[in-house]
Amino acid sequence: MVFDLPHIKKYMDKKITIAVDGFSSCGKSTLAKQLAAKLGYVYIDSGAMYRAVTLYALRNNMIVDEELDTKKLIASLDDVKIHFELNANGEPQTFLNGTNVEREIRKIYVSQWVSPVAAVPEVRHVMVAQQQKMGEAKGVVMDGRDIGTTVFPNAELKIFVTAEVDVRAQRRYDEMLSKGEPADMNEVKQNLQERDRIDQSRAESPLRKADDAVVLDNSHITRDEQLQVAYDWAMERIKSAH
Ligand code: CDP
Repeated sequence: MVFDLPHIKKYMDKKITIAVDGFSSCGKSTLAKQLAAKLGYVYIDSGAMYRAVTLYALRNNMIVDEELDTKKLIASLDDVKIHFELNANGEPQTFLNGTNVEREIRKIYVSQWVSPVAAVPEVRHVMVAQQQKMGEAKGVVMDGRDIGTTVFPNAELKIFVTAEVDVRAQRRYDEMLSKGEPADMNEVKQNLQERDRIDQSRAESPLRKADDAVVLDNSHITRDEQLQVAYDWAMERIKSAH
């Protein structure tokens, strides 16, 4: 257990908040998950929450003829209950109104609507309030688009992850194939670019690097290398939080 490592144990009583933001499919969630595990922190995938709301909208006829019925969605937000549970392997699973939707929310038809749904201010207000509650006790690594700017503006460590678009598209494509999902490289790349465009240009908490965030470009480094960089930053901040 990481808790038993003496160099961490010394600092375990002082937990910090870690925000990981960045573009679509840049490896944020891999990094955030591994970092949380290494520190003994809780990992929260805020994107999964926006994906679950999107699935709810799709299943309840709020997206018809390529149009999102924003009014209907806003009126139903109280009926959208999202929570996370760990499965037998310790992997977080997203639940929508009591049903495990972890696999479904990663599919391309959800990815194609998630950014328009996430741009609705009322949706964001509800999600951000829930995310802030989840992170109240600190000891949390949360990944998303607006974690360092809006959800936890006082996070002790903010990491902004970037990678070249072709590298990101290849990673998402490989990930989908490995899950047995049909994938088309052009469609995957276009979806990433379109989501990045909407995420950066929306009025409500757009995707941007917080002024005090550190940038991690992982285009040409391995998962282990990016984890080491982030872990060193985290330990620095944990020590100085004492
Ligand atoms: O996995 P990937 O990086 O492609 O995306 P995600 O983290 O699952 O997020 C899906 C979408 O949710 C993003 O493209 C954003 O439109 C939205 N999102 C957001 O607006 N704010 C967040 N904090 C997290 C996600």
